[in-house]
Amino acid sequence: MKTLVIGAGNMGLTYAEGMARSAVLNRRNLMVFDKSADVIARLSELDHFDVYEKLEDCLPQADMVFIAVKPYHCDELFEEMRSMVNKEQIFVSLMAGVTIAKIQDGLGAKKVVRSMPNLPAQVGKGVTSFTESKEVSRVELLMVRNLLDTTGESIHVKNENYIDASTGISGSGPAYVFYFMQSMLEAALKMGFSNNDSRVLVSQTFEGAVELFNRNDLSPDTWMERVASKGGTTRAALDSMDDNNVKELIKEAAYAAFDRAVELGEEK
Ligand SMILES: NC(=O)c1ccc[n+]([C@@H]2O[C@H](COP(=O)([O-])OP(=O)(O)OC[C@H]3O[C@@H](n4cnc5c(N)ncnc54)[C@H](OP(=O)(O)O)[C@@H]3O)[C@@H](O)[C@H]2O)c1
Repeated sequence: MKTLVIGAGNMGLTYAEGMARSAVLNRRNLMVFDKSADVIARLSELDHFDVYEKLEDCLPQADMVFIAVKPYHCDELFEEMRSMVNKEQIFVSLMAGVTIAKIQDGLGAKKVVRSMPNLPAQVGKGVTSFTESKEVSRVELLMVRNLLDTTGESIHVKNENYIDASTGISGSGPAYVFYFMQSMLEAALKMGFSNNDSRVLVSQTFEGAVELFNRNDLSPDTWMERVASKGGTTRAALDSMDDNNVKELIKEAAYAAFDRAVELGEEK
């Protein structure tokens, strides 16, 4: 399975590196194309995969093509690709808000997988949701999934509405966690901790809580009850959050991202 990644930026490179490190793909079967000469020069030195500066040298020989350019670059890219596309190729889009129908129209292709990755893919802890056009077979979908999983975990969703919904949870979600971390960091600094100690306090608290959460299938509510005793300090904090409606506001924020993802898809 010859695989090509188009666009060697944050996401494209993350996936290319994930695939290169994994046993799923033979290194010789991984190609990367970017339009920037600087990027090509830098990647050629790394020698983790074959790097191309001309689309005609790599696209025709690819069985699977990951598209990782910014959504606003997709029209010009599709135009460039169109004459070289064949109907057996599978296109996996990492682009936010670009629909399967638009990709099929733009490329004149049928087999399209649309996915929504997230930033922790950079450290092998990503989660990617994905769905496919009806022309993609189960075996092909399994191959795509194996490649997506080289950057973490993936979930298959039944239609594109869930891709937009997962944008509101996992796609944009790392920023919500950073928002919470930033608030706790600012509180720690205000209490007089050094910058370094504040970072350790916050980071270990998040990492430890996630590890506890992953240990079994207890709900976050149950874990909160375990930490909070009646009349105690944690209860005071949780009551303060409840009084300020924080849970509802976070849910509203996730829906704002979901709605925006739908809107962006309609604009294109
Ligand atoms: N970053 C995230 O956390 C995240 C999360 C979910 C989804 N995504 C999706 O991932 C996609 C990529 O995002 P990113 O942050 O990785 O973008 P990025 O860092 O800007 O990378 C895109 C790369 O593609 C290159 N490029 C642009 N047009 C091209 C063309 N016609 N042919 C070949 N290469 C081309 C760009 O070159 P220039 O810089 O020279 O334009 C750049 O090197 C986006 O569609 C985004 O929606 C990103």
